[in-house]
Amino acid sequence: MKALLEALQPGEKDWDLAQAIDPARLPAHIAIIMDGNGRWAGRRFLPRVAGHKAGIGPVRTAVETCARLGVKVLTLYAFSVENWKRPRAEVETLWRLLRYYLKQELPELQKNDIRLQAIGRLDALPAQVRRELDAAVDATSANRGLLVNLAINYGGRAEIVDAVNSILEMARLDGSIQTLKIDEDLIATCLYTASCPDPDLLIRTSGEMRISNFLLWQIAYSELYVTDTLWPDFTRTDLLQALLEYQKRDRRYGGLSGAGVDTEAKSAEESLLASLRPS
Ligand code: IPE
Ligand code: IPE
Ligand code: MG
Repeated sequence: MKALLEALQPGEKDWDLAQAIDPARLPAHIAIIMDGNGRWAGRRFLPRVAGHKAGIGPVRTAVETCARLGVKVLTLYAFSVENWKRPRAEVETLWRLLRYYLKQELPELQKNDIRLQAIGRLDALPAQVRRELDAAVDATSANRGLLVNLAINYGGRAEIVDAVNSILEMARLDGSIQTLKIDEDLIATCLYTASCPDPDLLIRTSGEMRISNFLLWQIAYSELYVTDTLWPDFTRTDLLQALLEYQKRDRRYGGLSGAGVDTEAKSAEESLLASLRPS
């Protein structure tokens, strides 16, 4: 948070927004469904791939802002297992842009101590893309600042299936298959995101009110924020606005709000008991 404030001048754009954010209540993990590239291009009578290209700048901004805020994990949905349904030329452009992003951003990631991780069924990626992705992940593996999870060929259901299969495989190998008991902790530790806390905040751009197979297990209690802004237009201002909105939410996890609940519940209970007493 300090680093973000230091990067801004009083009166500058986003200064007031940044001041309004409570540094003690930042989300540890933000996940983003970066959607709307095609529509952004369509509105400009450009081919869809122009929208994907224009989507790189906001990725840079989101990564930089999260690093400066001191957010621990940022997970970005870059390509879903369902996105293979798109025309081959579009898919190929997405791989080309991913390679361009990795090459272009690696020095900046290193400079800012950012660690890159890829989550998804990576075996299905074109060999060259996989090699360059692995190299970028390796090169940043010792960094200890923000962790950026790039979700590539990712599906929430596929992730759960992979977790269950890896549990079965381990149990077969260590001979515990007969007595195997699966619980939530075991599944969570076998997901691609095993080392991360669940997302506190899930942002989706472009106004679509759906999850599109993203982090199905992990978002059980995430706060959802949908903005009509299309991903190529998503700025630092949009991210700070999402954070401010997040800080207004009352996260109850199925329980009751913190303040005053105990005394309120107690007095309600007492008057209920009193009303039930035979007169
Ligand atoms: C998100 O933008 C990027 C990917 C899914 C790779 P879209 O390409 O889905 O853009 P819209 O939703 O068609 O506008
Ligand atoms: C979700 O967006 C996937 C990514 C942002 C990578 P889509 O555009 O693929 O989702 P749908 O088809 O609108 O649900
Ligand atoms: Mg879309």
